[in-house]
Amino acid sequence: MSKTLITGGLGFIGSSISEELLKKKITKKCILIDNFGSYINPLKENFVDFRKQRFSSLENTIIERCDTSNYKTISMLINKHKPDYIYHTAALPLAKVSNLNNEEAKISSVDSTLNIIDAIINLSIKNKSYKCKRFVYFSSSMVYGDFKKSSVNEKSEKNPKDAYGIMKLAGEVVTEGVCRLHSIPYTIIRPSAVYGPKDMNRRVSQIFVENAIRGKKIIIQGKDEKLDFTYIKDLANGAILAARNKNGKNQIFNITCGKGQSLHKFVLLLKKKFPNLKYQIEKKDISKPSRGTLSIKKAQKLLSYKPKFNLETGITEYVKFLKKNKVF
Ligand SMILES: NC(=O)c1ccc[n+]([C@@H]2O[C@H](COP(=O)([O-])OP(=O)(O)OC[C@H]3O[C@@H](n4cnc5c(N)ncnc54)[C@H](O)[C@@H]3O)[C@@H](O)[C@H]2O)c1
Repeated sequence: MSKTLITGGLGFIGSSISEELLKKKITKKCILIDNFGSYINPLKENFVDFRKQRFSSLENTIIERCDTSNYKTISMLINKHKPDYIYHTAALPLAKVSNLNNEEAKISSVDSTLNIIDAIINLSIKNKSYKCKRFVYFSSSMVYGDFKKSSVNEKSEKNPKDAYGIMKLAGEVVTEGVCRLHSIPYTIIRPSAVYGPKDMNRRVSQIFVENAIRGKKIIIQGKDEKLDFTYIKDLANGAILAARNKNGKNQIFNITCGKGQSLHKFVLLLKKKFPNLKYQIEKKDISKPSRGTLSIKKAQKLLSYKPKFNLETGITEYVKFLKKNKVF
């Protein structure tokens, strides 16, 4: 059985991939690389660190502290563990923070990606029997910028609107170009608005659900703003499918729920569970791109990818987790 290395392995998405791989015995061992970073002010009221809860067990898991921008360390760890599969999720994951720190966004999405691919190339040269079976780069729906149509597919125009989207797209170019040049099989995943238990980056879905539980008013910026909300388990399983299936080799996939839904709809679903919930509609934040559906037809056709959670069932699971864990 294979060995899998996940950069950003302590994160929301990286830890979910590790949990699914080990639970389903798809891999023998997961090596989680992380710099133990955090993007939210930990002194803020109601800050909850979910990192411990992200792992049901640490059996067959190795955690290595490393910043992927440090070539020497990441290269040493790739040499040491010789992973068959690499999922590269480590990056500055928030558009708002990236836009204030262009250099950090570039180092995390572009330089780090090149470092990992270079480490794979150098190990393959040194050790002829080593072969990376798949390098998986995590991009974003933000590479599309403002959607020109209500639904975009992988071939739609890429016109990122901010530093985050620009650096994510640059990371895609590095992945495609350098991997192709050195015959390293790669897959690029474009997720969107991933939500669910154990997220701690205070994206819109987390703020909405936590406010509903706490009885705090929700502010909706743009009533008709649509996002393709994707439940965390669907993304993790879709990414694993793409990495392990031969049809996923050297391909780009939107891995989402496949349905853009308005922020207002999200809140109305919450209101069914919390009838006293109060909300207010304000103007859209124009610095954010207007988005919608990311077509998943390609992933359905080539990978038989089928998301299991719709927005209602995903929110139900999320609320159940927060209540069970008595976080509030
Ligand atoms: N969550 C979403 O809705 C979403 C949507 C689109 C794309 N993505 C992308 O998916 C990836 C994972 O996002 P997430 O939601 O799991 O974020 P996260 O913050 O939960 O996880 C990222 C992890 O990477 C680590 N990390 C960051 N930079 C690092 C570095 N230079 N070296 C080592 N470790 C580093 C962090 O400590 C963290 O544990 C990111 O690349 C993000 O851009 C996420």
